[in-house]
Amino acid sequence: MKKQRLVIAGSGSTYTMGMMMSLIEEKDRFPLKEIVFYDTDAERQERNAKATEILMQERYPELESFSYTTDKEEAFKEADFVFVQIRTGGLSMREKDEQIPLKHGVVGQETCGPGGMAYGLRSIKDMIQLVNDIRTYAPNAWILNYTNPAAIVAVALKKEFPHDSRLLNICDMPIAIMISYAKILELDVWNLVPEYFGLNHFGWFTKIYDKQGNDHTERLKSLIIEKGFTPEDKEIANDVSWQQTFAQARQMLMDFPEFLPNTYLQYYLYPEQMTAKEDPNRTRARQVIEGRQKRVHNICDQIIEQGTAEAADLHVDIHGVFMVKAAASLAYNLNDRFIVITENNGIISNLPDDAMVEVPSSLTANGPKPFAIGEIPTFYKGLIEGQYAYEKLVTEAYFEGSYQKLIQALTLNRTVISPDKAKAIVDDLIEVNRPYWPNLT
Ligand code: G6P
Ligand code: MN
Repeated sequence: MKKQRLVIAGSGSTYTMGMMMSLIEEKDRFPLKEIVFYDTDAERQERNAKATEILMQERYPELESFSYTTDKEEAFKEADFVFVQIRTGGLSMREKDEQIPLKHGVVGQETCGPGGMAYGLRSIKDMIQLVNDIRTYAPNAWILNYTNPAAIVAVALKKEFPHDSRLLNICDMPIAIMISYAKILELDVWNLVPEYFGLNHFGWFTKIYDKQGNDHTERLKSLIIEKGFTPEDKEIANDVSWQQTFAQARQMLMDFPEFLPNTYLQYYLYPEQMTAKEDPNRTRARQVIEGRQKRVHNICDQIIEQGTAEAADLHVDIHGVFMVKAAASLAYNLNDRFIVITENNGIISNLPDDAMVEVPSSLTANGPKPFAIGEIPTFYKGLIEGQYAYEKLVTEAYFEGSYQKLIQALTLNRTVISPDKAKAIVDDLIEVNRPYWPNLT
């Protein structure tokens, strides 16, 4: 098995340490020669890097080298894989994305509605730059991108790099939901075989089988409705906000029992309810700053201070394990089936070919090979077409610098609808996003 040189771009992230634990856990499946951290923020990167250095000495002695840098060439030269997890503007801009729409009585969320639009316009520029940088030094490296808002980023990258076949956008929400299914069904999550269709953060499970071919779908639905639905991945299980989100998914299933919804649909199906329960002074960004970020920083500081990670409260997270398993399937042509974001091209036969859809695919050395889905029913088709038009308009607004297209986008989005609100929100978002957004006229 070829050993990989892996670069983590955006290594200052609060998810990096969980990813390191996952790489250790999966070292037989995805053996590494070298890990390189790359970030534009040297200070943020350093804490994770110094802790990782100690962690890897103790738990990954097979690793030939671990290093960290802010230099592109040093990072990307001879890379086999680049995992990308950047957040342009950081958590402080995430807080603005959440608060500004709320001020106008509209859903304030990281990837949905106007917040997702704002974040999208920030991410596109940096992602294009980053992919160009990677391709300058590593023309053949696999880029696994989970930068948000993944739906908009995927559309924009497809437009900018239409022939780049080693660039895969991927999200952990379907697998995070499947962990809860596995728990309810008393099965191993990696033994589940999902059927699923949609856009990123906008999709439905239509079937849950196991690898032996048994269909668990109807039993699963009944159990969720009867017993409730809770987050089970360790990273989110005790988080009140995620508990509410999973409870709401049960409500969605009761209202629309045909398919099992992605949790993010709550923002589009119940926008008033989602807005009403928010405290604008303590949105999700604040919770993450004071919760996960603080926790991870403390753990890293402790590792660095003690010179050992032995006592550190670090654990493997599903997000990391999923990315590593997907990477292994691409690297070693394992043909494992995962839900990923890919160009539609007839997969969902009654949606546009150019849509970036999220569907089960076999991950091969030649990229994702999605499974045919056929026609989807009118309700889902209608919802997806509106949402896809929104995503496309945001992307076009970015490339054309068009203010009008943003107003169109938000008017189409189920979280906004009113053109007056759309204008007021866009105007407020422009004010705080000047350093990041293109000029809009
Ligand atoms: C899930 C989604 C990600 C999103 C994250 C937010 O993992 O798939 O796209 O970024 O949740 O979680 P947080 O705990 O930061 O609100
Ligand atoms: Mn996601």
